[in-house]
Amino acid sequence: MNPHKIVIALTKGRILEEVLPLLEKAGVIPSEEIGSSRKLLFDSNLPDVQLMIIRGSDVPTYVELGSADIGIAGKDMILEYGSQGFYEPVDLKIACCRLMTAAPVGASLDSPRLRVASKFVNIAKQYFSSRGRQVDIIKLNGALELAPLMGLADCIVDIVDTGKTLRAHGLEPRDFIADVSTRVIVNRAAMKIKHERIQSLLQRLQAAVDATSAGRA
Ligand code: PRP
Repeated sequence: MNPHKIVIALTKGRILEEVLPLLEKAGVIPSEEIGSSRKLLFDSNLPDVQLMIIRGSDVPTYVELGSADIGIAGKDMILEYGSQGFYEPVDLKIACCRLMTAAPVGASLDSPRLRVASKFVNIAKQYFSSRGRQVDIIKLNGALELAPLMGLADCIVDIVDTGKTLRAHGLEPRDFIADVSTRVIVNRAAMKIKHERIQSLLQRLQAAVDATSAGRA
């Protein structure tokens, strides 16, 4: 951990587009345009703040192990990784959706050994075991909706927003597992060592979230 810098790990893709305006309201602006660059590490307008752009599934790893002080990632990625190793002080209330099970419309899921496809292997395992169900988890990395259609799995565990992707593949949402939104996570040691600077940044981010919510209401 660099004691002089605050490194923020950001999730690339859709979340990034919504996070950058919030960061800007909180006073953190990348020193060059992130979208048009192949770079993965950026300086900012604040001399002690750096921004990393990585996959959401890698954000908890960087934060727990302390190579990033702060991370911004979906609650789905946090639940899948396990949320014990860091603090989760701020809900940015963006990229809101739900983790659900989904299956072909009308299909019975009573078979004794259900085949469940997901990229959220740990979440799926925990969910079905909490319901006392033995399942075979099939790990996929995307396009989960194809798995039941192609006979690979009986059902899936996936993110549902509008439900359009499910419907387009003859699937319907079944059980709710968790609400998902984008969260700020903080390395435990960094929170102690860089307390004032991190708290100040978190307060500014929370104020940016509150102002955005007030604007929406
Ligand atoms: C997510 C999810 C679904 C879709 C749900 O995919 O996996 O495919 O969004 O949205 P909807 O309910 O509004 O149709 P995403 O686009 O994030 O890409 P992914 O395939 O990498 O998960």
